[in-house]
Amino acid sequence: MEIRFVNEAKAQALAVMAGDGAALTPAGAALDGKLGGALVRAMAASRFTGAIGQIVEVLGASAESTRVLVIGCGALDRLDPQTVERFAAHAVKRTALTGAERLALFPETLGGVTAAEAAARAAMGARLGAYRFDRYRTRMKPDQKPSLIEVQIVTEGLAAAQARYEVDSPVVEGALWARDLVSEPPNVLHPEEFARRAAELEKLGVEVEVLGEEQLEKLGAHALLSVGRGSARQSQLVSLFWRGARAKTAQPLCLVGKGVTFDTGGISLKPGAAMDEMKGDMAGAAAVVATIRALATRKARANVVGVVALVENMPDGGASRPGDIVTSLSGQTIENLNTDAEGRLILADAMWYAQEKFNPIAMVDLATLTGAVIISLGHEYAGLFSNDDALAHALQLAGQTEGEPVWRLPLGAAYDKLIDSPNADMKNIAGRPGAGSIIGAQFLNRFVRPGTAWAHLDIAGTAWKPSPYEDPLSPAWATGYGVRLLNRLVASTYEE
Ligand code: BES
Ligand code: MN
Ligand code: ZN
Repeated sequence: MEIRFVNEAKAQALAVMAGDGAALTPAGAALDGKLGGALVRAMAASRFTGAIGQIVEVLGASAESTRVLVIGCGALDRLDPQTVERFAAHAVKRTALTGAERLALFPETLGGVTAAEAAARAAMGARLGAYRFDRYRTRMKPDQKPSLIEVQIVTEGLAAAQARYEVDSPVVEGALWARDLVSEPPNVLHPEEFARRAAELEKLGVEVEVLGEEQLEKLGAHALLSVGRGSARQSQLVSLFWRGARAKTAQPLCLVGKGVTFDTGGISLKPGAAMDEMKGDMAGAAAVVATIRALATRKARANVVGVVALVENMPDGGASRPGDIVTSLSGQTIENLNTDAEGRLILADAMWYAQEKFNPIAMVDLATLTGAVIISLGHEYAGLFSNDDALAHALQLAGQTEGEPVWRLPLGAAYDKLIDSPNADMKNIAGRPGAGSIIGAQFLNRFVRPGTAWAHLDIAGTAWKPSPYEDPLSPAWATGYGVRLLNRLVASTYEE
């Protein structure tokens, strides 16, 4: 699907905004005039108030404009960028399969949204909303396939919109790639295949290092290795360094991702229902590699390194047993009391490796770590834990701007002591139910060196959304959560 910024629409399908009180924007009113009042009549005939997300579809209003969408955007004087994105996403979703090939969007420049920003946001919304994962559907009938080949964004300042979009487009592409990786079946996307795909970023000027089991053994990354022992696949630790700052040796921001390509729970086996969703347990790693790709593509002026731990958590004769004690890369010993709490084990080694090897200025890890964060925050906010208020605030702001919000939860000594073990330096679960996401974060905190600013994002609820929670910007199961957030964090805080 092509995106084009144009001064004038040439499309069968058109989409305009309407605000509270079914008020058309100037572009909408002009179109309504051309169509002899068809839009106003259609709104009146359908209880349309202009509230966000309402849609009126006017078919056959004229020979040229066979399909017109009027999309509710709420208070137009307070129109925000995310509403523009959702407007575009709704329009694309409604048009994609109708047979229409060209759709023109009329985003309005009102409230705090400039013309260029509105146009670029519409383009982003259109692409995010058009996402599908059809790679393995080989027998689709013609009418199951999208007909839409072009989305025109009607705007006055073509050059400014285009310039904005050139910066944003790599970020959208990153988010779509993350969705693809999360959606890939676990027989295809195993740790080595994930590492191979990540290593392709070398073409963009990213420095890539892939460590296999032999090297990890030599290093002493036994916490990470213990998780992959029950798998026929080789565990991998991949580092991706984008040196975009003027000073190539300036301390980098480090992003660490949980990449469990399938989580059966291991010997502490998960129940069968919806276990297939655990193919998405590598969403943290997907967000990290896709962010590095976005940064490299847009040549971000910052040093950022991504480190992803890639393993498959399977039960077999080599698998970890509850009760096993392993020595992590940091030297600290861990009693593994539940092999389903595996994410924290691989992150412990990946985070330690990242700090020793790259001496980061700050470290952010992303992980589908706990089902408990879905109980706390549902599918709207990721859980944020941090030892640094400035970093936490920067993430909160970035999340708001990009529509990938985070909600901060506490850390503290009273939680930390719950993972003390009589048999080892710590255990990987608290042993009593309650505060499961905080316990996971406390565990990770024990692998943060003193002085490292660190934030942990528990994205178990936001990495994918089961059907009733779908968003127009994220029409399929995987959301690509984290790519926009991290890119914004880099742009706002670490970029020259
Ligand atoms: N990958 C899961 C967490 C998860 C659950 C992600 C649901 C997405 C949706 C993680 O490895 C896990 O199994 N966590 C356990 C931890 C527990 C054993 C302390 C959990 O949440 O039950
Ligand atoms: Mn698990
Ligand atoms: Zn897991």
